[in-house]
Amino acid sequence: MASSRPPPTSSPSLPPNSQPFSPPASILIVGSGLFGLTLAWSLARRDTFSQCSITVVDRADPSSPDVFPSPDAASVDTSRIIRADYADAAYAALCMEAQVHWRRQDKPTHLGAQGRYTETGLVVVAEQAPAPQREIVVDKSEMTGMDYARSSYDNVLSLAARHPEHIRSVRELPNAEAIRGRVGTGGSSGTWGYVNEGSGWANAGASTAWLFDRVKSTGRVTFVAGTVTSLEHDGATATGAQLAGGRTLSADLVVVAAGAWTGGLVDLSGQATATGQVLGYIDLTEAEQEHLGRMPVLLNLTTGLFIIPPTDRVLKIARHAYGYLNPVTGSSPLPCSPTAPAPQVVSQPLTHLTVPSLSIPKEGADDLRRAVCEMVPLPGLAERPFTKTRLCWYSDTPTGDFLIDYHPQWKGLFVATGDSGHAFKFLPVIGDKIADCIMGNCPAEFRTKWAWKPAAPVVITEDGSRGGKPGLILAEELAATH
Ligand SMILES: *[C@@H]1O[C@H](CO)[C@@H](O)[C@H](O)[C@H]1NC(C)=O
Repeated sequence: MASSRPPPTSSPSLPPNSQPFSPPASILIVGSGLFGLTLAWSLARRDTFSQCSITVVDRADPSSPDVFPSPDAASVDTSRIIRADYADAAYAALCMEAQVHWRRQDKPTHLGAQGRYTETGLVVVAEQAPAPQREIVVDKSEMTGMDYARSSYDNVLSLAARHPEHIRSVRELPNAEAIRGRVGTGGSSGTWGYVNEGSGWANAGASTAWLFDRVKSTGRVTFVAGTVTSLEHDGATATGAQLAGGRTLSADLVVVAAGAWTGGLVDLSGQATATGQVLGYIDLTEAEQEHLGRMPVLLNLTTGLFIIPPTDRVLKIARHAYGYLNPVTGSSPLPCSPTAPAPQVVSQPLTHLTVPSLSIPKEGADDLRRAVCEMVPLPGLAERPFTKTRLCWYSDTPTGDFLIDYHPQWKGLFVATGDSGHAFKFLPVIGDKIADCIMGNCPAEFRTKWAWKPAAPVVITEDGSRGGKPGLILAEELAATH
């Protein structure tokens, strides 16, 4: 949806402040993950940018379907939860907007068609029954899984009340038996929860491919295969990106949307950090697929463990937790200001693409195993080895809010990152919001949330949705056998 704007002035200035927006002659988007691709899609369709050249650079070669999108990116693999179930009303409402698109499946070209979206329902569970007299926790940093689940329940109830077609879709599951009944696998989890029949899951790889086709069909976007090693600048102005091999790409506006890799290009100290999250996959028999194929998505907010209904005889188990940090030296991000030193140590993704033998720490594997035993206790499943494990890297912020803003110190630099592991569901709508932010029109309800913040001393995501222990170091956990 292109928003109408006053005609551009001749001033070359860019927001933040209150100057009128004048589109740059060229935009370079670093990263073709969810934020980068959706932004390119939105810009390509806006009249305001009709004279602007749009380039997307990614380490995965877009002309090669075998490697694009990159198989270790956070925007690929089999499945993502699509839920309006948020403790935060603004994200819940934004998801409601996105779900209209996910549910479209009449034509093969619709986003939700061809198995890209399945509405199985989502069961959210947590610790114990909510005490009726307890105050709702407003300070996110003190929120427990239970608080999150309860606020989320309140939010989806009130959303459902405003949308009569969803009124019957949200139902409390007041005890373990009720949870077991709705989950239908024979397992249960938690002691209080609710089901939202209006939530489900998306095939992430197929949806990203769908998005990529949309972007290509605009004919407006140039894709470049290359690994960006650093950003270029001239004084206090970002001017482009340096690629491995020596090539340089220049642009009037540089947008870094490199997900968990962003911190290697722009100093995000105190804003966001890369955290690795564990995933495991187990092959199923046809009968098991048949049995579990009808289960809802099951999310335990006390531990962050969740299971997505299997497809093609593969069951995925994952943990939305504090994750692992992988502090490394040797990257050279643009410092937090033109006069500041570059950070010494940055948490950077470590994936099976660069280290093929990489496996997940025992601590994480044990936890995934616990989820199998408790949530899907089919005979023989608990002992069956994982066919594959994986680390999925989030760009985590202290509040779990995205970071979508102009850089406060570098001109010509915009950052769209901080997915905090919950951005995928916004695929149909987030590009337009990022473009609005670029034009100085950030949606009012997200202006503060998505803004560059005063630096936090350490980045630990305290939005109430994470399980596990904060601050685990990947190398130490990999070395530990417990
Ligand atoms: C789910 O949450 C309950 C508390 O509500 C906890 O005792 C249990 O260990 C969790 N199970 C899993 C598999 O995460």
